[in-house]
Amino acid sequence: MDKILVLDFGGQYDQLIARRVREQRVYAEIKNFDRITTDEIVREGYRGVIFTGGPNSVYDPASPHYDPAILDCGVPVLGICYGAQLMAYMGGGEVSAAENSSEYGKTLLRVKESVLFKDVAAESVCWMSHTDFISKAPEGFKITAETDKCPCAAMADDERKLYAVQFHPEVTHTEFGKEILRNFLYSVCGCAGDWRPEDYAGRLIERYKTELKGKKVLLALSGGVDSSVAALLLHNAVGKDLTCVFVDHGLLRKDEGDRVEHTLGRELGVNIIRVNAEERFLGKLAGEASPEGKRKIIGEEFIRVFEEEAKKIGRVHVLAQGTIYPDVIESGRGASAVIKSHHNVGGLPDVISFDEIVEPLRELFKDEVRAVGTALGLPEELVWRQPFPGPGLAVRVIGPITKEKLDSLREADAIFREEVDKLPREKRPDQYFAVMTDLRSVGVMGDARTYGFTVALRAVSTDDFMTAEWTRLPYEVLERASGRITNEVPGISRVVYDISSKPPATVEWE
Ligand code: XMP
Repeated sequence: MDKILVLDFGGQYDQLIARRVREQRVYAEIKNFDRITTDEIVREGYRGVIFTGGPNSVYDPASPHYDPAILDCGVPVLGICYGAQLMAYMGGGEVSAAENSSEYGKTLLRVKESVLFKDVAAESVCWMSHTDFISKAPEGFKITAETDKCPCAAMADDERKLYAVQFHPEVTHTEFGKEILRNFLYSVCGCAGDWRPEDYAGRLIERYKTELKGKKVLLALSGGVDSSVAALLLHNAVGKDLTCVFVDHGLLRKDEGDRVEHTLGRELGVNIIRVNAEERFLGKLAGEASPEGKRKIIGEEFIRVFEEEAKKIGRVHVLAQGTIYPDVIESGRGASAVIKSHHNVGGLPDVISFDEIVEPLRELFKDEVRAVGTALGLPEELVWRQPFPGPGLAVRVIGPITKEKLDSLREADAIFREEVDKLPREKRPDQYFAVMTDLRSVGVMGDARTYGFTVALRAVSTDDFMTAEWTRLPYEVLERASGRITNEVPGISRVVYDISSKPPATVEWE
């Protein structure tokens, strides 16, 4: 299988570049620039390398540089933004900064004939984000594109198969970005386009059939897309030797636990142990009002319950986890400030003894995980399940948690989701849910005064959940949801819509 290396110089779009490459059916891997040498790139048989953008100036001694020998090693290179400037700098060209040279946003691009610009209009819109620019192309390169401010918006050395673009072809605002990447992958690197996540999963299943034969595999199932697909994939490889422990902490959405158990367990035959631990969790959470306090309690209790179940199973050889590619890349990076300590199953290895960890999805992006799930027969509602926090509704009941508040929230949330789900999929927000505020207010029902809780509805649209915009839901959807919630759910007398984006707000209220 052909593979492309995305060499990361600290740009914000490196994951996007890899995804775009894979969308063209070519496998792409991201590696930090200091984790691989030119020799290794050649030895490992990469068909091409893409240099990503980065926040630095090439003249800054602290900025990431690379071995200039890469330009002569015979592997095609495409430099993007900072990556393009780095190629110019390495090859003996010049990079300059002028006060009026920076470009940001949609920019008119004029291209000349080049293998990279096959099927690209002579004039089109591209996405720019730079201050420095290439003021002189290195020897051997010809300039193949320009903008009003940028004399060298692209350059090419066809003989050595080296290409550079100052703009971002991976961003959808670049009108012909897809064509440009396709030209690099197919016409320059000669890739065959044989990457299909479903085939990859098929090969993995075959491999695991041999490698995991006779071994007991344990997986913590949350009902989310990643752990469900990991479970299904391993189930196809080892059958009943896989045990999935599904801890129902009583903080799931309406009917969620039953649905996961039914679909994966009964319909697809995955070996699931469901632990109903609602009372245990609610007991521990009683009176706890702080968001981090709740997360800590749930995280610890989860590990304890899981450990107890694991002990009952006996000897475990393999611990399986639903880690996906963005988790792998993120964990290789420097630490950033902890806004919320996200709860996942990362703590499990410390409490269970096993011989090895298997992470079947560690090379896949989310959309690829979904494709594998679909191919393995996972129903739509699970494949397209919106993200749901590990601590569940605990972080959507503001203040102390009670069973009554949880139950009302579950009803209100189900109504809201049902109304939003009437929209066609492409019009739906990326995440939408209800929040039980700790606020009561006066209302009137019939002739009587009520004093019920206020529920907030939250819906956001986002690419990566790092930033998110509140979704402009049609008023009719909000009207129906509000009307139904106040009528159908006892104890709720007011509904508000959250119109804050992230930042400064976060997606969840806690
Ligand atoms: P925030 O609230 O941080 O949410 O803007 C971003 C995304 O992460 C999810 N989220 C969590 N997921 N454990 C999780 O597994 C958590 O503690 C947690 N907190 C937030 C949130 O639902 C959103 O998709």
